[in-house]
Amino acid sequence: MTRIIKSFFSRSHIKSFAVLLAAASLLMSGGCKNAQSDESGTLRVGVALYSQDDTFIATVVQNLERMAQEREGQEKIKINLSIADGHSNQTTQLEQVERFLERGCDLLCVNIVDRTVAAVIVDKAEEAEVPLIFFNRQPVAEDIQRWDKTYYVGARAQEGGTLQGELVLGAWQSDESFDRNGDGVMQYLMLEGEQGHQDSLLRTEYSIKAITDAGIEVEKLASDTANWNRGQASAKMSQWIDRFGNDIEVVIANNDDMALGAIDAFKEAGLELPLIVGVDATAPALEAVASGRLYGTVLNDAAGIADVMLDMLMALTSGADLSEAVKLEDGHYVWLPYRQVTRDNLDEFIS
Ligand code: GAL
Ligand code: CA
Repeated sequence: MTRIIKSFFSRSHIKSFAVLLAAASLLMSGGCKNAQSDESGTLRVGVALYSQDDTFIATVVQNLERMAQEREGQEKIKINLSIADGHSNQTTQLEQVERFLERGCDLLCVNIVDRTVAAVIVDKAEEAEVPLIFFNRQPVAEDIQRWDKTYYVGARAQEGGTLQGELVLGAWQSDESFDRNGDGVMQYLMLEGEQGHQDSLLRTEYSIKAITDAGIEVEKLASDTANWNRGQASAKMSQWIDRFGNDIEVVIANNDDMALGAIDAFKEAGLELPLIVGVDATAPALEAVASGRLYGTVLNDAAGIADVMLDMLMALTSGADLSEAVKLEDGHYVWLPYRQVTRDNLDEFIS
């Protein structure tokens, strides 16, 4: 009898101690409740975007919304996605991140405006104990490694550049009419994304490297940044068309929107299209590939990014092993593969 009473008392002690602990940890975490403590069973995700006007980023968001809904059905949970548009302003974005953390969330997904200043966001997330995923715009490794619950989900910029260069190379080698002046040299233009963005720097470098590594001589007529933007690329290209006209043999654009802008400019000038390639495989780009205006593109896996982030949400909030849910490299990175898209395999990409 005494034993029963004793064990009853000690168990209730343990219980109240646990309640105290839980309350204390809730206070310490700045009031940001985690998934297990939310009785409604709702998982809250704060998503901060560098700019929602960006076609590729808008595609990631559409996928995220659709896939979150699908999971709600499958897993009998609620996923509450809050999306904030940073309008390309780091100060605005930082305020949005702070608001997410104050209101409480289970996961923070950040498409950072300025990839050199990730440390302050990492520190804020760590203080609130909210796991943090950066995506698409890659912070420096030092910042990612600052806290063990900081991750990056994206594709390797260098790989995208190489695949894009190989697309151009294959076309060039299989059809000599691309060499308009028949001098054996590839006269090209480069449309670059934002300055300082890993995808601009590395796609620019590695696309050309793939071509020159194969022994093809190239001549850069001009290059400039058009900030991923169709209108800016079209304006730039109009100026280049005035200067170089039919000397332009190849246009390499760091993304599809700029490639489409180049196509717009050629159409407006009434000139025959040179060999043009992009990256992303957005819906309008796939249409342009289908109609033959865009020679090819490289799939930047928007759906993959969304899917991985949701896998991570589920694992992080259920206490499951993250490295079993996703392919985690160096404890922090999930890399998605790029894929070449041309008219030949277009079917695989049209959903
Ligand atoms: C790149 C993408 C661009 C643009 C940029 C924004 O990966 O190719 O179209 O979305 O990210 O960070
Ligand atoms: Ca030539």
